[in-house]
Amino acid sequence: HSVGIIGAPFSKGQPRDGVQLGPDVIREAGLVKKLEGQGCVVKDYGNLIFEDVSNDEPIGRTKQPRVVGLANKQVADAVQRVKNDGHTCVMLGGDHSLAIGSIHGHAAYRPELSVVWVDAHADINTPLTSPTGNIHGQPMSYLIRELCTKIPVLPNFSWIKPCIAAQDVVYIGLRDVDPEEQHSSHILKHLGIKTFCMTEVDSLGIAKVMEQMCDHIFSKIKKPIHLSYDIDALDPSVAPATGTPVIGGLTYREGIYITEYVCQTGLLSAVDVVEVNPKQAKREEEARFTANVAVDLVLGCFGRVREGSHAADYKIP
Ligand code: ARG
Ligand code: MN
Ligand code: MN
Repeated sequence: HSVGIIGAPFSKGQPRDGVQLGPDVIREAGLVKKLEGQGCVVKDYGNLIFEDVSNDEPIGRTKQPRVVGLANKQVADAVQRVKNDGHTCVMLGGDHSLAIGSIHGHAAYRPELSVVWVDAHADINTPLTSPTGNIHGQPMSYLIRELCTKIPVLPNFSWIKPCIAAQDVVYIGLRDVDPEEQHSSHILKHLGIKTFCMTEVDSLGIAKVMEQMCDHIFSKIKKPIHLSYDIDALDPSVAPATGTPVIGGLTYREGIYITEYVCQTGLLSAVDVVEVNPKQAKREEEARFTANVAVDLVLGCFGRVREGSHAADYKIP
């Protein structure tokens, strides 16, 4: 595998400080060395440098739209460049608003994409339905074609063109969906969005979930996969250092299995790992543990298989 890494130290899609440290703590957990250790060729493009925007007043309820729009344009350009250079792209967040830029940039290179969104949350609020105004709860709404009539104009968002069809999106791990989102995901279900909430992970088991996920996204043609992995999809006992933890999430093994399975398809083209926030940890070990798990997710995406022989580098927090 040839892997291109982009760090996106950005937090303004949500209110908590610390998520901008994600790229650095994930690197410090040994990401590049471990990828190389399993035979990957890695190019680290370093961290993007985001400019601040003064007087970024809310538009309606939507918070900091100008700075989020601007940062995502940079992410989109960077992802497109990594794809043009021929790598599978790894975007380290940062908060999940960055998926707007990551998926948009990826779609500029490969117009036919499928999106596998692994998350406790659907992140499909529109600026009008969002209960919080935080853009990290909204990225999907800007990207899905069928929703474009529901999106009001926002400053620095005019470059964003909805580029994903509802039928090419699959959710895994949902367990905290807002009432209004429930409604729009209801609409989207009719449009062909596939969701595997935690109840379905429990009833089917993760292996069947992944099989059905592939049956769905590959039913017509085999499109490249954009995997957008919010660390809060995992249970807070596995990934405590995150801003919006929700009890009852994926186990470590389920979380890793998803990456192994996606890798096996041979169609993984870009992956986001977002919402690692070391400052949300109660103790330092929790931050380190979460970062190690984030690294393992990326390793699973690039061919690591669990055969019972890897180093014991874990301390339970
Ligand atoms: N649904 C809530 C909102 O719209 C929470 C979103 C959490 N998103 C995330 N990427 N962690 O604000
Ligand atoms: Mn989430
Ligand atoms: Mn998310």
